[in-house]
Amino acid sequence: MTVLVTGASGNAGSAVVASLAAAGLPGRALVRKAVELPDGIEPVSGDLNQPDSFADSLAGVSGIFLLSGYDRVEELLAKAAEAGVRRVALLSSSSVVGKSTDNAVAAYHLAAEKAVTASGLEWTFLRPNSFMSNTLRWLDQLRAGDEVRVQFPDVPISTIHPRDIGDVAVRALTDDGHASTAYRLTGPVALRPAEQVEILGRALGRNLTARELSRAETHAELFASMPAQYASAIEGFFAEGNVDETTVTDTVATVTGHAPRTLEQWTQENAALFR
Ligand SMILES: NC(=O)c1ccc[n+]([C@@H]2O[C@H](COP(=O)([O-])OP(=O)(O)OC[C@H]3O[C@@H](n4cnc5c(N)ncnc54)[C@H](OP(=O)(O)O)[C@@H]3O)[C@@H](O)[C@H]2O)c1
Repeated sequence: MTVLVTGASGNAGSAVVASLAAAGLPGRALVRKAVELPDGIEPVSGDLNQPDSFADSLAGVSGIFLLSGYDRVEELLAKAAEAGVRRVALLSSSSVVGKSTDNAVAAYHLAAEKAVTASGLEWTFLRPNSFMSNTLRWLDQLRAGDEVRVQFPDVPISTIHPRDIGDVAVRALTDDGHASTAYRLTGPVALRPAEQVEILGRALGRNLTARELSRAETHAELFASMPAQYASAIEGFFAEGNVDETTVTDTVATVTGHAPRTLEQWTQENAALFR
């Protein structure tokens, strides 16, 4: 039972790799550069947009942890089925069950879900809330001082620890009973951005303050930092309430048997990254 993990150098993929290793399961990590991997996880070089580049590495793979949003996914899935892969756990997002799915973020996740459903492989969709690792977006501000500008200050979000996504993915790919299931995954508690800043400050031993941005300031920052269609989608999620990332689900606990990890835990584990 070998799992291929795509995006293995990223926040979610590296968490899946860690969860596999913690469970003592063998894995292959699709990477584009050298990364440190735990024992039992073998690196595989390839480009997700070019399924040919790693097709040979699909032999002997039982399941794939797959990121959404890449070209030629149908071709990759056909090659996987041909190679004998049985299962796919697709990293989708909360946006696909939003009030409005007419946005650029939901569109690429929905396209990937559609391709996976059509592939004939056993599938599980992982639809998480925003990741706790998004806290790293404050890094530049924290290097400059103790004030953090926070967007959508009134919206509490139950952000999720990437390792909980990893644990659910490993269960979905290695246990029975998760096929044709879409999991809405959340963290344990919904926190406003200022509360998240306070928790980060405690982990770093710093007296951080949150400067709550107005709707207009948030709009300007968002559109300056990413392509307009993604900025507009994010504004739709949190200013217009198109997604609900406030409600807490019990899915992580039900699937993994352990409570979802907290932001306190994530910030303590990752404090060194902020220094
Ligand atoms: N962040 C959130 O709050 C959130 C919430 C819900 C869903 N999601 C979904 O989760 C996905 C992953 O998030 P993340 O935070 O783990 O992202 P990330 O840290 O940026 O990681 C992206 C990973 O994909 C790899 N990659 C990118 N282009 C590739 C290509 N052409 N071929 C092979 N590998 C490629 C990167 O490899 P390199 O290191 O080589 O660049 C990296 O390992 C997002 O794209 C989104 O769809 C995110």
